[in-house]
Amino acid sequence: MRHLATPQEVADALDGVGYLADDGLATAAFLALRMGKPLFCEGEPGTGKTSLAIGLADALGVEVIRLQCHEGIDATQALYDWDFPRQLLHLRALDGKVDPDEAEKSLYTRRFLLARPLLRALEAAPCVLLIDEVDRADDEFEAFLLEVLSENAVTIPELGEIRAAEPPLVVLTSNRTREVHDALKRRCLYHWLEHPDLTRELAIIRRRVPGISDRLSAQITTAVRRLRSAELLKPPGVAESIDWAHALLALDRTDLDAASAAVTLGAVLKYREDADRVIAAGLDALLAG
Ligand SMILES: Nc1ncnc2c1ncn2[C@@H]1O[C@H](COP(=O)(O)OP(=O)(O)O)[C@@H](O)[C@H]1O
Ligand SMILES: [Mg+2]
Repeated sequence: MRHLATPQEVADALDGVGYLADDGLATAAFLALRMGKPLFCEGEPGTGKTSLAIGLADALGVEVIRLQCHEGIDATQALYDWDFPRQLLHLRALDGKVDPDEAEKSLYTRRFLLARPLLRALEAAPCVLLIDEVDRADDEFEAFLLEVLSENAVTIPELGEIRAAEPPLVVLTSNRTREVHDALKRRCLYHWLEHPDLTRELAIIRRRVPGISDRLSAQITTAVRRLRSAELLKPPGVAESIDWAHALLALDRTDLDAASAAVTLGAVLKYREDADRVIAAGLDALLAG
């Protein structure tokens, strides 16, 4: 794993892979690396949490292993499971030729273990383990995560302990649809991600959408900032700014005026109520100046 000695080196390495971090975020990532602590990133959707983990892995030259959380996720989906169909085949192949105890023992070996993201991350270290949208999982799963993260090891009753040779760099993200427990946060360094400021967002668009003009990217960032302060159901994130840029380019529009905004609004606003509201207030007002 590449060694990054200062927050500035982290920022530069991220920049090198197309992720533009501000000082606060680069420092948080640096400290997570240096202190060997998980980094807990919270913020609105589209503020760059998931892509930070991917960018860090790129920058460090290691694999990123992603555990996408969802309602009802449990240990068999996160850690490991037994490969039942293969075990069955194996048993058939033995066809009563071995002693039942021996047969059973042969079923619970590494060969028949399906490693899910958490176990893969322990085995693949050094790597970046992205535990994405942890706010979607339930309390029980959080407690389970806490256990794995504090040990950097798991015990599989049939096999014994599997310990990471080198603990993975863990990045947890939350869109804050609910509050994650203090116990889990206490293990982590915490960073709140804001939408980027005007200059940074402009730079992100220019980086992610090659060939876009200064003028068009400036028009987009200005309009998106206005949309973010318009009390919408779903304020646009960076992803939407980038999509808007791609949509305008795809239609060969070189200018964000009321006409081009009207036909591309679906790239930025994802609720009918939001679109209605913005149109009622006037697209000219959104784009003025
Ligand atoms: N600081 C940044 N530098 C470069 N690209 C960014 C940055 N922040 C966000 N993006 C881009 O915005 C999009 C949304 O980011 P994402 O990480 O999915 O947000 P989140 O996980 O917070 O919802 C991605 O396409 C990502 O590449
Ligand atoms: Mg995300």
